[in-house]
Amino acid sequence: METVVSGIRSTGYLHLGNYFGAIKNFVKMQRENNCFFFIADYHSLTTHPKPDDIHGNIRQVLAEYLACGLDPEIATIFIQSDVPEVVELYLLLNMNAYVGELERTTSFKEKIRKQPDNINAGLLTYPVLMAADIIIHKATKVPVGKDQEQHLEMTRRFARRFNTMYGVDYFPEPDAYNFGRKLIKIPGLDGTGKMGKSEGNGIFLADTPDEIRKKVMKAVTDAGPSAPGEKPSEPVKNLFTIMSVVSDSSTLKYFREKHTSCEIRYGEMKKQLAEDIIKVTTPIRDRIIEILTDKKYMAGVVSAGAEKARASASKTIREVREIIGYKPF
Ligand code: TRP
Repeated sequence: METVVSGIRSTGYLHLGNYFGAIKNFVKMQRENNCFFFIADYHSLTTHPKPDDIHGNIRQVLAEYLACGLDPEIATIFIQSDVPEVVELYLLLNMNAYVGELERTTSFKEKIRKQPDNINAGLLTYPVLMAADIIIHKATKVPVGKDQEQHLEMTRRFARRFNTMYGVDYFPEPDAYNFGRKLIKIPGLDGTGKMGKSEGNGIFLADTPDEIRKKVMKAVTDAGPSAPGEKPSEPVKNLFTIMSVVSDSSTLKYFREKHTSCEIRYGEMKKQLAEDIIKVTTPIRDRIIEILTDKKYMAGVVSAGAEKARASASKTIREVREIIGYKPF
């Protein structure tokens, strides 16, 4: 049994890419491991320092997580800002993280480009906070996508450096969680790249059926295959990829054959795709609404999660303080 930590920032609604790319696997993973799932609401301040409604955003993501099947009876589900011990470890790890290596982080260089008017120290030390999130529970596995691999590598380095500096074998160096087969990357509806929060190319779990129909009908395609057997273009291939996760295999086969024989009508394919997406999202959406209206349930989940996370985190902090040499008078 591994200890697994996974965080998600509270800056947007969950989309199909989050669901099929990660969360659906988490539902299985939580039964086989000691899992900590949390909402990284401190990390979200690095890009959104003055959120309009941080509490509302956290509630929404939490309700969506739960609606997808993350189970607070099995896993520890909590809010980052409910666990002050993380902040203490973050401070301690900062003394042990070098400005040079932080400045060289890909995500930091990207953020400098994206928000030149707000290059705050939180952005620079983002990987340190993430490392604290992970090693405070002495995690051995972290499910990460490509974009987070460097952060995980830095986490390993900070853990190793702590051990070396204080001459202990205390923090494990966490590896990427391996789901066995390659993770499916869900593309967006705009013809290029993966589905994202801010790209405006996503289908959200909380979208209404009408919103989903509208978005899918507007998805980018092409002028149609010009010869039998022609490979689908990027935008059309993307629609097939989405279809491969939401539709029956017979449906997928039907449209693939229609494409091969140049008889495909994208309008018909999109109509089918939209209905199949709606079939997947509707029960989740109903559950999101149900959970959001049950304030007592949500409050219960959050306080139980915070209690479990703090029990684990405070043990680490106690031991870390002792390792460094802080003592009671
Ligand atoms: N940086 C992660 C992301 O943007 C979110 C995150 C914060 C995280 N802390 C974490 C993920 C700890 C895994 C473990 O996706």
